[in-house]
Amino acid sequence: MSHDGDVGARLAFDRGAPGRRAVDVARWEGTPAALPPPGLLRDAVRLPELSQGELVRYYTELSGRNFGVDSGTYPLGSCTMKYNPKVDDLVASLPAFAEAHPLAPAATMQGTLRTLAELAAMLGELTGLPAVGLAPAAGAQGELAGMLMVRRALERRGDLAGRRRVLVPDSAHGTNPATAAMAGFEVTEVPSGPDGSIDQQALARTLDGDVAALMVTVPNTLGLWERGIEAVAARVHEAGALLYGDGANLNAILGRVRFGDLGFDVVHLNLHKTFSTPHGGGGPGAGPVCATPALAPFLPAPVVTEDADGSLRLVRPEHSIGQLQQFHGSIGVLLRAHAYIRSLGIEGLRAVSANAVLNANYLRALLEGSYALPYQRRALHEVVFSGSPQRREHGVRTYDIAKRLIDYGFHPPTVYFPLIVEEALMIEPTETESRESIEAFAAALRAIAEEAERDPDLLHAAPRHAPIGRLDEAGAARRPVLRWQPPAQPAEPRDER
Ligand SMILES: Cc1ncc(COP(=O)(O)O)c(C=O)c1O
Repeated sequence: MSHDGDVGARLAFDRGAPGRRAVDVARWEGTPAALPPPGLLRDAVRLPELSQGELVRYYTELSGRNFGVDSGTYPLGSCTMKYNPKVDDLVASLPAFAEAHPLAPAATMQGTLRTLAELAAMLGELTGLPAVGLAPAAGAQGELAGMLMVRRALERRGDLAGRRRVLVPDSAHGTNPATAAMAGFEVTEVPSGPDGSIDQQALARTLDGDVAALMVTVPNTLGLWERGIEAVAARVHEAGALLYGDGANLNAILGRVRFGDLGFDVVHLNLHKTFSTPHGGGGPGAGPVCATPALAPFLPAPVVTEDADGSLRLVRPEHSIGQLQQFHGSIGVLLRAHAYIRSLGIEGLRAVSANAVLNANYLRALLEGSYALPYQRRALHEVVFSGSPQRREHGVRTYDIAKRLIDYGFHPPTVYFPLIVEEALMIEPTETESRESIEAFAAALRAIAEEAERDPDLLHAAPRHAPIGRLDEAGAARRPVLRWQPPAQPAEPRDER
């Protein structure tokens, strides 16, 4: 049997398995082409005739075509796609939480408010920044909240007009410069040095009295510690600017390093990366902002406050940037985070960061000989390789490598980000992958590196075992087809022996 044959047999969507009858999706075609004249239905609607059992099989079949953290290794760099304990879903779906009316009076919502207050306190403790706003519903929205807080703080001290620029390192997530621009600032890019940290001399040249803030991601998107960050914080403050932290990569330093202790003024976290809600897929997220007490009056509304009699209510901070979300924000995500932190405890959280870093470094060691490693430093939560030798020597692009991984049953890593790494392959195994699954993933990537040398066209044609091959991704984004269409027949697999 060919090597590829082994892979095919392992795939979750192997439709030829004995006893599994593929449901004929084409039978489902038949919704009316156009709606009849105003509300009047003249012809019978051609609804499919199906039993409940067939319907269940149809949806089960469809769900099997999806790939998620519960189906396999999903090392999507910068997304922290880890296993999320099911008990946290259970907590979030408890009827007292899930069925509460959002307009219910505070007196009847004390349990929910207490949970939110505890979560805010725990996030404040973990970041060393005790003023916490839970409302933002995504990392990017947390960034916006944080940068609007910076803006409002400068405005209050009469310093906004002269401070128009925000500095952003060239390794930053794209949301950082976008956020700074949305908050009304001009963006100045700061280059990274050869070690992947901010180029200190370039920073010194551009950091002057017209700078409002420096936005820094810690650990950065190369999966590296930002060297000299405390000195950077001091320099930023000397210049009268504020230090904004993108804390979306907290998984690497959870329970070990606190942004407040490093000198940050405000950070956002991605609860949907670190704290038990899967990231990606456009689902709900939560991007709380955590800030110094000096910035507390500017937090987004609402925040929970406790009265002298111990009762809790929602308030709008004195100089709040306003309300970004309805009601409490993404309450389900917040509840999961609370359950996650309480069930692991500080030692459990420290084990999360220890194992996330260990796994990334193990993977780094396993793949070092097969792919180029642009930064020869110990990795933190993720490791960024470059496929540029494969491109140069064999005409195989990182995109081909990523697509070929699908044939091996793995979700591809993030590719072409960070932008400063050519042909980037950004891999984040997370702490919840076992040693065996990391070794299996590394073995697949090593095998693909060999295939790139031996048979580059095999990679150009990948994936060959997925229900859908290569997509016109730009076309799909620009001209989405939102109506159901019968699936195209899969191409006959090529015999590669
Ligand atoms: C470092 C970093 N910053 C910001 C974001 C933006 O978060 P979101 O996608 O929730 O808007 C992400 C997303 O993964 C990220 O990895």
